[in-house]
Amino acid sequence: MKKTKSSFVMEKLFLWISICVLFFATKTTGQDIQNKNIHCDKWDSIAEEHIEYSQHNDYDYYYRRHTTTRKTYTYTYECTVRNYEIASDRDYYIDKSDKIYKLTIEDSSMNGLPVKLFKHLTNLQTLIVKKTSLQHVDEIKLPKVTQIDLSENEIVSLHENTFAECSKLSEINLSNNNISILQGPFFDSNQEIKILDLSYNKITNIRNIHSMTFMLNL
Ligand SMILES: *[C@@H]1O[C@H](CO)[C@@H](O)[C@H](O)[C@H]1NC(C)=O
Ligand SMILES: *[C@@H]1O[C@H](CO)[C@@H](O)[C@H](O)[C@H]1NC(C)=O
Repeated sequence: MKKTKSSFVMEKLFLWISICVLFFATKTTGQDIQNKNIHCDKWDSIAEEHIEYSQHNDYDYYYRRHTTTRKTYTYTYECTVRNYEIASDRDYYIDKSDKIYKLTIEDSSMNGLPVKLFKHLTNLQTLIVKKTSLQHVDEIKLPKVTQIDLSENEIVSLHENTFAECSKLSEINLSNNNISILQGPFFDSNQEIKILDLSYNKITNIRNIHSMTFMLNL
């Protein structure tokens, strides 16, 4: 069948529209990725005890000729973020996420913790969020974290499962906030807690928190 002139024009038009859409799509994606990145103000590698160290000896065919000893270091990092405006529902990414063992976010404005960022921080042990405008804290999912410091914010409320998925937690600092009521199974899944600092809040009511065998610092 012969193509009519108008269908030929339509085809060309369609092609050009596709090219334009593709061009703009690539451009915006690039920009989105840029916006997602959080830059660390301060990268501190490596406290001695955080170096993972493994050694491979190549006892093989070459053994007699030259014994080779290869050493492999896995560096871990401490990252400090300042003066950021953080939105809890945005998907952020920090370079070397899986190697960060300590993250500090301070002097920043935020409407909630950047929970989507946490899924990349698979080896995080210490989380410090200080001197921010944080008011509400949702569930924190950081299975390896042992220390969380949320002091000196404006926290009014915590989700009752805030710490439920942090089973290794041993230290929580919530001091200098605006918490008045602590009610619910907050620390039921946290068998390792040794220090809970709730000083300088406005606590009037603590209920249903059992297994408070740890030190309660009020
Ligand atoms: C908790 O944080 C406050 C304020 O940053 C600090 O003064 C206090 O010593 C901390 N508590 C513990 C148990 O480390
Ligand atoms: C927290 O308490 C301080 C001092 O009472 C008050 O100025 C501030 O507005 C409160 N913040 C919130 C978010 O409730």
